[in-house]
Amino acid sequence: MANLLVTGGAGFIGANYVRHHVATHPGDHLVVLDALTYAGNLASIQDVLDGKLRHFVRGDICDSDLVHELLVKHDIDTLVHFAAESHVDRSILGPDAFVETNVVGTHSLLKAARKAWLGERRRASHRFHHVSTDEVFGSLSPTDPAFTETTPYAPNSPYSASKAGSDMLVRAYQHTYGLTTTLTNCSNNYGPYQFPEKLIPLFVIRCLEGGPLPIYGDGMNVRDWLFVEDHCRGIEAVLEHGKPGETYNIGGRCELPNIAVIDTIVKTVDAAFASDGRLGERFPNSPAARGASCADLKTHVTDRPGHDRRYAIDPRKIEAALGFEPAFRFEQALAQTVQWYLANEPWWRAIQNNDYRQWVQANYAARGG
Ligand code: NAD
Ligand code: DAU
Repeated sequence: MANLLVTGGAGFIGANYVRHHVATHPGDHLVVLDALTYAGNLASIQDVLDGKLRHFVRGDICDSDLVHELLVKHDIDTLVHFAAESHVDRSILGPDAFVETNVVGTHSLLKAARKAWLGERRRASHRFHHVSTDEVFGSLSPTDPAFTETTPYAPNSPYSASKAGSDMLVRAYQHTYGLTTTLTNCSNNYGPYQFPEKLIPLFVIRCLEGGPLPIYGDGMNVRDWLFVEDHCRGIEAVLEHGKPGETYNIGGRCELPNIAVIDTIVKTVDAAFASDGRLGERFPNSPAARGASCADLKTHVTDRPGHDRRYAIDPRKIEAALGFEPAFRFEQALAQTVQWYLANEPWWRAIQNNDYRQWVQANYAARGG
């Protein structure tokens, strides 16, 4: 790797990846392409951009000509594709943007890569890495074995269906045109810079602000949690040593029911207030500010339509082939995440804008949350 194009690099995982890559490969040339939708935030990467070795371009992945121009102009050899509409609840309320960005957008990137790398100025050494999700495999029963790379696709939400479509297009471009591709299907990430519509950052901020913690259904849905830094290391391992045409599952070996995640958030925030008296002054509406527990905020609300019951990743392929294993344990990394949100209040305050408030109202009013 030397010249990278990172799509969606101002989003949660993309920003963490950009930061990780800059730290581990400081000499690489990096171009970030991001449309800065509601989920994109330049503040998440601004301090590592220098306009010389590391550029930011605001643009849409659906603009195939722009992508082609960037690939040629910057002599890109590696495209790492994070850009997507990523929130399941939003896909239920409005699927169109998911098909447009995730399916049409991915195809637009593939077309540009094919033209730049397999066209008249053929580039033998190139890689298109597609970042996907474990949700494409559908839902498991409590006794089903975890997803492997050969588990048949059975997506259940408009989000996961659109990601499944994009995965299939990547596969087809490898098989039909000989584009060098790799693909990773990852489980639920958490960590710094995550937009507070997803479970963990939403609940951390609600604990601080004293808002209800809306638990969908019985709270017993299971996810396999992975600290985002570990995901970045997994992607880096695939970029460096992954076999062309292969897919790799990345998981945390950390299956937890939502209620256990929520109880850990509550316990972590309560403990932070107990050990730092200034938090009570900063967040006076938190139950923890008056010596009560944030557990008081737990509220069961109407379930997500079509809510997948359980996801679990069998990570043995990437462990055996590339020696990748997650380094972070859940409780420790969650505490680190809570500390990050406490230390970066301006980051999340700035994105609590009109769009965010309208979305929160639309999603939770109907659920009574
Ligand atoms: P995110 O929603 O936080 O960020 C998405 C980024 O893509 C934003 O910066 C946004 O501005 C950008 N974007 C959206 N549409 C665009 C377009 N048309 N053109 C250019 N940029 C556009 O998402 P995330 O959680 O960081 O997820 C990143 C990728 O990882 C996604 O492909 C997602 O499907 C996948 N993934 C996420 C998780 C998770 O737990 N968050 C787990 C597995 C896989
Ligand atoms: O599995 C990987 C996927 O993980 C990624 O592909 C997606 O981009 C990412 O958003 C995530 O999807 P989930 O739907 O699992 O994440 P979310 O944080 O939205 O929800 C996690 C669980 O918590 C899920 O079972 C729904 C539940 N939940 C979520 C929210 C936002 C609640 O109970 N209450 C909430 O308010």
